Amino acid sequence: MNDFTYYNPTKIEFGKGKEKNIGKYIKDSGYESVLLVYGTGSIKKSSLYDDTIASLKEAGLKYEELSGIVSNPLISKVRDGIKIAKDNKLQAVLGVGGGSVADSVKAIAAGAKYDGDVWDFFIQKAVIKEALPVFTVMTLAATASEMNGNAVITNELTQQKFSIGTVLVNPVLSVINPELMATVSKDYLAYSAVDAIAHTIEVYFTATEHPKFNSRLVEAIIKTIMETTEILIKDPNDYEARGDFAWAATQALNGLTTSGTHGGNFPNHMIEHTLSALYNVPHGAGLSIVIPAWMKWYKEQNTAQFERFAKEIFGLSTADEGINELESWFSKIGSPVTLDQAGISKDDIDKMAENAVQTSKLWGLEENYNEQTIKDILHKA
Ligand code: NZQ
Ligand code: ZN
Repeated sequence: MNDFTYYNPTKIEFGKGKEKNIGKYIKDSGYESVLLVYGTGSIKKSSLYDDTIASLKEAGLKYEELSGIVSNPLISKVRDGIKIAKDNKLQAVLGVGGGSVADSVKAIAAGAKYDGDVWDFFIQKAVIKEALPVFTVMTLAATASEMNGNAVITNELTQQKFSIGTVLVNPVLSVINPELMATVSKDYLAYSAVDAIAHTIEVYFTATEHPKFNSRLVEAIIKTIMETTEILIKDPNDYEARGDFAWAATQALNGLTTSGTHGGNFPNHMIEHTLSALYNVPHGAGLSIVIPAWMKWYKEQNTAQFERFAKEIFGLSTADEGINELESWFSKIGSPVTLDQAGISKDDIDKMAENAVQTSKLWGLEENYNEQTIKDILHKA
């Protein structure tokens, strides 16, 4: 077990109807005004938008709104949100939606306390020193953005999808009500399952030190996600399965699975963000394309852990069997596993590698993942 500091300042309010208290939660945290941020319409199809407004009003909060956050969220919208927050001197930001909304509010929170352009943080030209307090009500479980300090945003002009990560934008409080997630489409349910699994296996396979507890925790998360995804495909309203799925997805990237590990990194995410940046592929769909290819390319570097994965997850014995079974499962739930299935031509591999290597450099992975390596991996996809 490696030494570590574990600090996660996010309070989780989990359960039915908790979103109706969001105004009170914000008010009780000491704020009088808030920027409400949401996506392209799902919260208005349900009663969630009305419930949120009612809750803000009931708590006596002043609020402004920013709507239209898209999946693979854009820096232009973040800049709009920063302007509204600054112009109205708002004290907090609230995202109601999926990971794209949560990530956007985090970027807005940081940008609202900065005089320069918010993209500076993403290209590591500036460091986040302060941020407005962030609150979220999650309508989709996948990213764990509700309980971490990460945000991933696309700059549509430069076609770069880059990230920030700081505890300063960890939500103060997040509401997770599994009932709100029952309307997520089957496609996004599949992509979410892939994403949650991806968050755990990146470090599981790449760490040079991975304590047994962490391996077991990862395996529990993966099994839970796989089991509940299959239940939810058949019955989207199964509350128990939604709850298990959501809480497992939160644990997958809130710092717990990696505490005590050493040397792990996120190469699949590094490459996937390029697929989203260039082709607007949903994040989970991009991951199900990259992961099997990367596993085939990487497996000899950590055979023991790949064999463990095959045994613990699928009751199989070899690394190859485990990889093939995972790839088949991604296919079975409806997530693409080749570039071709996502409509991406292999003629674009050079262009993708050129784009991905930028993230590789920002994440300090260049030594193992240069343009050539990334091309080799993508050719397997
Ligand atoms: O725009 P709306 O109407 O909200 O529709 C969304 C969107 O079209 C819809 N949706 C969300 N909740 C729904 C719903 N539809 C019906 N009923 C509901 N209850 O689902 C679509 C996808 O939403 P999105 O927020 O994009 O999905 P997700 O939560 O998977 O977020 C993906 C983004 O998060 C980033 C990804 O790169 C991607 O940009 N990530 C963030 C991470 C983090 N902050 O730690 C880590 C991840 O690795 C990931 O990179
Ligand atoms: Zn992810």
